[in-house]
Amino acid sequence: MAKLSKRLSTNVEGNFFVDSTCIDCDTCRQLAPTTFVENGDYSTVFHQPKSRSEEFEAYQALIACPVGSIGVVENNDSQFTQAKTSFPLELEAGVFYNGFNSEKSFGANSYFVQHPEGNWLVDSPRYLKHLVNTFKDLGGIQYIFLSHEDDVADASRYAKTFGATRIIHRADAHAMPDAERIVDGQEKVQATPGFMLIPVSGHTKGSMALLYNNRFLFTGDHLWWDPHKEQLGTPSNLIWDKTQLLQSLSRLSEVTFEWVLPGHGHRVHFDGATMQCHLKALVDSRSLTL
Ligand SMILES: [Fe+2]
Repeated sequence: MAKLSKRLSTNVEGNFFVDSTCIDCDTCRQLAPTTFVENGDYSTVFHQPKSRSEEFEAYQALIACPVGSIGVVENNDSQFTQAKTSFPLELEAGVFYNGFNSEKSFGANSYFVQHPEGNWLVDSPRYLKHLVNTFKDLGGIQYIFLSHEDDVADASRYAKTFGATRIIHRADAHAMPDAERIVDGQEKVQATPGFMLIPVSGHTKGSMALLYNNRFLFTGDHLWWDPHKEQLGTPSNLIWDKTQLLQSLSRLSEVTFEWVLPGHGHRVHFDGATMQCHLKALVDSRSLTL
């Protein structure tokens, strides 16, 4: 829990605050954009929650924060408990954002897909009893998709608990050397019915995306939505290879998807044609910078 003694002076007066342990990972700004904003190297409270729904979202941010940098002067136990049990958060039927982002992955988002032929965990949240029990209730975890080396977090603990198959690209497998399934090359791989592994080298050599039902694209740190620019984004630094990154983006035009569900950055949902327009705009803009 955040400490009042470390409260950032940039917070507006009121119950919620961010302290100086913040790592500026963006999790709170995604969950409660009416309360939190980026200010320099930190997130900060620019508007105290006024409505019950704003307060609920702020509590979700408090709970999801990977480093416990968000605090309240006076806790609302009911709202806190409801916010905690709201995770995993169902985005559409059977597709969840897990919350409880892990500091080990610099606060990356992770997801869960419920499927009759085996559930998938996409990257890893913190290993917590609440999530373990919820995943058990939802039918366990059969596969753990690891988008790239940065976001493995507690995947091994979840794999051990559920006997899951961890999937990672060979070029990033040093982050999970005992993974049960290693993917080679840059060709798409149909992993199981409805689930396609798409190598998208660029941010890291072994980055991969996971396409589910030609609708949900889990992108790791390869692709995200920028709500301020209202356009898709991709890394501009921390890139293993710029040319490969652009080629990987271009190849996403070969598949259909309607959701972008990233590790870092905001998620977004469009119809397939609109998504491809946004993708083309991103590819065109990045081509000019090469
Ligand atoms: Fe990354």
